[in-house]
Amino acid sequence: MPVYQATVSAPVNIACIKYWGKRDTKLILPTNSSLSVTLDQDHLRSTTTSRADASFKQDQLWLNGKVDEIKEGGRLATCISEMKRLRREFEEKNPNEPKVSRVLVPAIMHAHLLQISSFHVHISSVNNFPTAAGLASSAAGFAALVSSLAALYNLPATPSELSLISRQGSGSACRSLFGGFVAWQMGEKADGSDSYAVEVAPREHWPDIHALICVVSDTKKGTSSTSGMQRTVETSPLLQHRIKHVVPERMKAISKAILEKDFDTFARITMQDSNQFHAVALDTDPPIFYMNDVSRSIIALITEYNRASVESGGKIKAAYTYDAGPNAVIYAPKENIKEIVELIYSYFPQTEPFKDPFGLFGAAGPKGK
Ligand code: PMV
Repeated sequence: MPVYQATVSAPVNIACIKYWGKRDTKLILPTNSSLSVTLDQDHLRSTTTSRADASFKQDQLWLNGKVDEIKEGGRLATCISEMKRLRREFEEKNPNEPKVSRVLVPAIMHAHLLQISSFHVHISSVNNFPTAAGLASSAAGFAALVSSLAALYNLPATPSELSLISRQGSGSACRSLFGGFVAWQMGEKADGSDSYAVEVAPREHWPDIHALICVVSDTKKGTSSTSGMQRTVETSPLLQHRIKHVVPERMKAISKAILEKDFDTFARITMQDSNQFHAVALDTDPPIFYMNDVSRSIIALITEYNRASVESGGKIKAAYTYDAGPNAVIYAPKENIKEIVELIYSYFPQTEPFKDPFGLFGAAGPKGK
């Protein structure tokens, strides 16, 4: 019997211009455009295997080894049924010439392959980092899920086309379909067909920018992004100002900064936007707090580090940003990373060894100043 199976992994992305607020909660259409950097290291990825088989009785999903319910009409069910719909359309358009996927075990009979949109699927997804702790696990998860089904079904879809579907799993997931610098254009249409991700610049355009992840806490966040956003849309006047008068200009300015490799502007906008997102959370009724005292101390440290550099005639050296959780992501040119890690080590005692993919510190690890 042929085995129809594909495994694909997808990385997390961390937004510099934050998405916060939905204008359509079912289709997941945002109230503003957003822009992120996709992280390309192996530490923060979801890996998903999808398998289709005529003998499966129902669609089923395992998340980190545990069965996760696929609720009828829920986001998982929507993504799976949308991918099956694409496969069905592909089968109808290509009745005589099904393209046999490279990822499938060979010797597949065309007749079988043609029908796989009618098979149930079993999907297993594993994150190699804490789930739901503000480290964009749902972004990587839904991007990997949609990509693995696209590979299983051998669909000739572009990343932007697939982003239309992963968006319906978790909004930010649409940006993880691309590497590098990625914008999610909010679109205008009610059916969401113009709300998808596009590449601003590939990773290779600006390889000098690195991300340092400071895991302040890896416990599950208190307020999910879904309920938080809904409350913010319903109650925050600051959100209305942000979406009309702030984000459109920032999207243009940060895209230009990326294309011109202007770290100073990129960093200023990234920090301002993180601050405004958390201000909007605080402006929500009742207020939402995602950062904690350690998060705020890291902001103070990076602010002081940049101030010292600028006052001595230098440039901004690092940019912090925080999603819906207390963990800091620090973007910086590679030449500053060692110094920043040493600074963090001086002020914050570490419980876990530093993951050092570039071998900056050797076996002893960073010591602090
Ligand atoms: O895609 P969601 O529902 O997990 O929302 C993500 C929201 C933020 O991470 C806070 C911002 C963003 O643009 O990623």
